[in-house]
Amino acid sequence: TTVFVLNGPNLNLLGRREPHVYGSTTLADIETLVREKAETLGAAIMFRQSNHEGQLVDWIQEAGAQGAGIVINAGAYTHTSIALRDAISGSGAPTVEIHISNVHAREGFRHRSLIAPVSVGVICGFGPMSYVLGLEAVHQVMAERAR
Ligand code: DQA
Repeated sequence: TTVFVLNGPNLNLLGRREPHVYGSTTLADIETLVREKAETLGAAIMFRQSNHEGQLVDWIQEAGAQGAGIVINAGAYTHTSIALRDAISGSGAPTVEIHISNVHAREGFRHRSLIAPVSVGVICGFGPMSYVLGLEAVHQVMAERAR
């Protein structure tokens, strides 16, 4: 299986950005964790980050065209982007929404996700481990669908 691990706005600053909320792990550290897990699963990983909504739309479409799965931390676009939601539902790619922080323990505007209804499921609050759990989840879903 191929899995696109997509990161939205401000996640390039992980490790420096609000470390009391997001911890000291960088996105490069997270990529290493994800690649280690991918190796044990036999999955190929496309690990990408963009601050631009349209770029994320392009990558979601690319994942769909390749028959890949998606693990996405859409950052703040989670709470605002109809474009990402439409891209996910249109792509047909099995998608797992993830967050580093427990968004439900935070401000009210983070409790609503526009992409959760078109995702297989949501994982949040486990820090960098949310990515690893998300990868396992989407890999499992794809294996089941292939059977
Ligand atoms: C986040 C949670 C979002 O609400 C926030 O806008 C982010 C990061 C997380 O991983 O905890 O940028 O997606």
